[in-house]
Amino acid sequence: MKKQDFPIFQNNPTLVFLDSAASTQKPQYVIDGVNDFVSNDYANIHRWAYQLSERSEELYDKSKQLLAEFLNSKASEIIYNYNATHWMNVIAQSLVNSWFLKKWDKILLWIREHHANIVPRQILSKIFGFQIDFVGVSKWCEIDRDDFSKKYDKSVKVVSIWHVSNVTGKIYDVKKIKSLLRADTFFIIDWSQSFPNMKIDVQDIWCDCFVFTAHKVMAYTWIGAMYLKRDWIKKLTPMMSGWWAIRDVDLFWHTVPNDYSKFEAGTPNIIWAISLLKSLEYIKSIWWMEKIREHEQKLVEYSLERFTKLKEKVKLIWPKTNDRTAVFSFFIPGNENFNHIWEIFAKHNIAIRCGGHCAYPMHKDLKIPWTCRMSAYLYNDISDLEKFFEVLESIVK
Ligand SMILES: Cc1ncc(COP(=O)(O)O)c(C=O)c1O
Repeated sequence: MKKQDFPIFQNNPTLVFLDSAASTQKPQYVIDGVNDFVSNDYANIHRWAYQLSERSEELYDKSKQLLAEFLNSKASEIIYNYNATHWMNVIAQSLVNSWFLKKWDKILLWIREHHANIVPRQILSKIFGFQIDFVGVSKWCEIDRDDFSKKYDKSVKVVSIWHVSNVTGKIYDVKKIKSLLRADTFFIIDWSQSFPNMKIDVQDIWCDCFVFTAHKVMAYTWIGAMYLKRDWIKKLTPMMSGWWAIRDVDLFWHTVPNDYSKFEAGTPNIIWAISLLKSLEYIKSIWWMEKIREHEQKLVEYSLERFTKLKEKVKLIWPKTNDRTAVFSFFIPGNENFNHIWEIFAKHNIAIRCGGHCAYPMHKDLKIPWTCRMSAYLYNDISDLEKFFEVLESIVK
């Protein structure tokens, strides 16, 4: 546990931060690394003719190389842009632009999904006429295999799912899902909640495309990554174009490169890419994913023990121990004034979040109103959880 690495806790000594599923705090190493880069090495990248730009580009590329090492992928298959939401929009539109997803084709999602995986598809389906269908989920949050078999017909061209739910913390078996798919189904995985917590191997899962948002892994906001298999990089027509996403331009035509750069139109977010490099270096030097997961499991076990003691009064949406991260959403039957609940926590300087957590269809499917969500990360310890449960107990009393 390295709380002392995070200046936010030195500057707010009584803060109990349990909202990491929304965004993580930044270690001094990342802050210093970004400041150092801006102070010493920053310049625009690509087609440089001077040393500073060369250094800047080297570090931008190094960020991708390190991410590739984490994912067991090639750096040339990693593309940077704003965040997971951005990538979910871009990839959907690119599949349409490339005539891969056409009128009457189907995209298959899960009822309990993040809005980033639902809303962009709704907009495009209205314009281009492809269909959206949703596979149901059991009471225990497992994917309904019968429903999947029924709905996964020949018209399904795209399957898209989150790896870990940002509401329940449940880890879905994406490798298993992949094994059920035909080779010609484009498979998208949202790794926003799993990448910060566990080892991911894209060769092992063999997905076509994954997206994640880096502010959930201690990098800065507005930087996200998409992994796209080489064949798909070649095949797909991007949603956006402009500088660096072109080879040649004339008044009425342009040509497009056949590598990752066709998806990185415009000056990239160089500085925040360095923040991702620094956050990955921090994880590599201090933690590694296995250690993060180990630490998190201790927080999970402790939290579930305390939630179980309150189970008559506090309903946890998914109370299982295995296959989960330290994300817990709950509600108190008869006390659905969530503003009141989070205000009480806020008075104790405990940061949690209440609402629909960008998963309104999931809450509707569960027939529950909004939930309160407590989520822990590597800088949390048992004493943080003790403080959280003390307040929760006082509320239900
Ligand atoms: C599972 C999941 N997908 C996508 C997102 C969207 O991330 P961003 O808002 O950074 O695009 C989030 C963040 O809440 C998330 O938890």
